[in-house]
Amino acid sequence: MRTPFQTIAWVDGHVKMLDQRRLPGSVDYLHLDDAAGVAEAIRTLAIRGAPAIGCAAAYGVAVEARRLRGAARDDFSATLAHAFELLAGSRPTAVNLFWALHRMRAVWATGASDPPATIAERLLLEAHAILAEDVAANRRMGDLGAALVPDDARILTHCNAGALATAGHGTALGVIRSAAAAGKRVAVFADETRPVLQGARLTAWELQQDGIPVTLLPDVAAGHLMARSRIDLVIVGADRVAANGDVANKIGTFPLAVLAARHGIPFYVACPLSTLDLSIETGSAIPIEERGREEVAGYGAETWAPDGVPVFNPAFDVTPAELVTALITEAGVVRKPDRASLRALVGSP
Ligand code: MRU
Repeated sequence: MRTPFQTIAWVDGHVKMLDQRRLPGSVDYLHLDDAAGVAEAIRTLAIRGAPAIGCAAAYGVAVEARRLRGAARDDFSATLAHAFELLAGSRPTAVNLFWALHRMRAVWATGASDPPATIAERLLLEAHAILAEDVAANRRMGDLGAALVPDDARILTHCNAGALATAGHGTALGVIRSAAAAGKRVAVFADETRPVLQGARLTAWELQQDGIPVTLLPDVAAGHLMARSRIDLVIVGADRVAANGDVANKIGTFPLAVLAARHGIPFYVACPLSTLDLSIETGSAIPIEERGREEVAGYGAETWAPDGVPVFNPAFDVTPAELVTALITEAGVVRKPDRASLRALVGSP
């Protein structure tokens, strides 16, 4: 199943990305030709979702290097170093961003004395590789995860962990897509996902494009659905998984996991290995982005909260590993993830 849109691509020397701020009302693409533009697109959620942010950061470096390919070496190096900083500062929680920048930096370091044009070519190839690997990882996760989905499954998901959040196919929605492609009947319940409404705007739209049945619900209705035995499993994506298996994902994920445990419903997390951060011991050390007041005080041009009332707007929360039934990755499915099983998964001693 191929999605009829492209989240991110390299086209004619620039980065083309679907502007997710405008979905579902209009399907518009941005064409960006420098790192500052890409960093701004990440910061303002034109592109979002951990793996897609990683791909965007990689292309942000590549496009900047291309822009500078005719520059003198010192200018090239100083401006490219600044581009890395800009991109690294765009959002803090999704580790895929830093993982991708690390890969790009390593490529730069291997031939740092080569002409800028050669370095630029090499960086572009690495960005292409990051994108292709992400699609392959998602397809593999889809195959592995589909085995966990029973026929006639009623599946609850939160935020958007689909093709829109990745280079293609998706993580949580990739599992659902693969299950549907394998002939299983599925019905998806999509949390609207306050306050930015990734569920209402993006997941509902994305699944509609594929003809996968989807019903939208307010976040606060999830407990009621579970209590009435109308959900068979929950599946979400992740922005960062700590060494002990704690999972940072879109705000509202943690209460869903608690509700799922209360009702004996499996709670699955699908994410590529690039989302694992074994350098962080537990979820409490994962940096959690706090976003602007306007996202909670109103929506778009409209404000409904009284002037001056303080707002708390964390974009992510942390689900303790003990609430995760299984982590689905391209390297395998880990039931009850913990420090030992995650180390074994990535082959680290
Ligand atoms: O703020 P967002 O929209 O970038 O948050 C996205 C999520 O929380 C996703 O669930 C996560 O990045 C996984 S995407 C495959």
